[in-house]
Amino acid sequence: MSRIIFEQLTPGMITDEDIYALSGQLLIPKGVALTSNMLDLLQLYSIRSIRIQDEWSSSPLEAVSPEDKHYLGQNIAGFNSKLVEEARVKRIQEIKEYKKNYSQGLEYFQVSINHLVSKNTELDIDTILNQTLSLLGPKAPGSTVLEMLVYMKEYDTSVYAHSMNVSLLCNMLAHWLDFNEDDCHMAAACGMFHDIGKLAIPSQIIQKPGPLTPRERTIVNTHAEKGYQMLSEYNVNKTVRLSALMHHEKCDGSGYPQRLKDDQIDRFAKLVAICDIYNAMTSDRPYRKAMSPFTVIDHFEKEGLRKFDTQAILVFLKNTTNTYLNCPVRLSNGMVGHVVFINNEHLGRPTVQCGSEFIDLSKRSDLYIAEMLPVV
Ligand SMILES: [Fe+2]
Ligand SMILES: [Fe+2]
Repeated sequence: MSRIIFEQLTPGMITDEDIYALSGQLLIPKGVALTSNMLDLLQLYSIRSIRIQDEWSSSPLEAVSPEDKHYLGQNIAGFNSKLVEEARVKRIQEIKEYKKNYSQGLEYFQVSINHLVSKNTELDIDTILNQTLSLLGPKAPGSTVLEMLVYMKEYDTSVYAHSMNVSLLCNMLAHWLDFNEDDCHMAAACGMFHDIGKLAIPSQIIQKPGPLTPRERTIVNTHAEKGYQMLSEYNVNKTVRLSALMHHEKCDGSGYPQRLKDDQIDRFAKLVAICDIYNAMTSDRPYRKAMSPFTVIDHFEKEGLRKFDTQAILVFLKNTTNTYLNCPVRLSNGMVGHVVFINNEHLGRPTVQCGSEFIDLSKRSDLYIAEMLPVV
């Protein structure tokens, strides 16, 4: 038995495990020979790799057990476009459901914070965090969070939505870094409240539909210290406070407000720094459209990884790019295709297949991925 990544799967290979959708629905049972329709299904559900029997038959029909045939219908040909279509409809429902929960979570978060600021009550982080994130499924794997944020990018026009997205990303990154459950929860809390100081900045500056003047930028930059002060007034845990204060610090000392370096920066604030930039750049802003995740990854690589926690940024970039493998994209020249190969030397510039043409973006500085397209 071997684990095979999606793009190396071919019709006729025999599954060596039951393959489930995130919802728990069985997609393809163990012992079935793959067909091209099944490969479509795996792509639709963003299944990155599956276990395949070592000695797989080139004849799909021979390999199917009687139970599998029963599951699949009268015969293996029954696993056809109808099933793929059903899966597509289900996927659309899942996305709809996620959007609904996302809106509810966002509303809850916004109302709670506004209540807190106006009534000056004590901040019960756990209640706000649990209520907000439970709507989105706290155990949602990174691939789901990242995929869903592609659908949610138009929501991120407020400090609240941005904070919720950064919280989800911090939680995802902490899991990728094998943090224990308490620390994953802490990372989510740090992401959730990192920009709370922006509520103390005049809204005409925060919502200005254009680039900021140097003076306005100076005012906005005070949100880090203001956030720390606000959270201190609400008796919030020190780690969460430090993330609000330090999330714009950079490991090379080029950040603000204190130009801290490496070990002087709290480890959770370093996670927030990565997720904050990633979310801000991949979201629409009043004065610019969202950038594609690959453009942002390209930016991180060019910007110099030494500004960030080395391990965290490498894990983040690697996992993020792998999540978008096989995803449909539009290139800057308008061509549409799929990401088919990640270049480890240049994660932000993968190979994209457009029809029969393979375009290696690491060799095409004139082109970039302009937009991720919805899978369904
Ligand atoms: Fe910030
Ligand atoms: Fe932020």
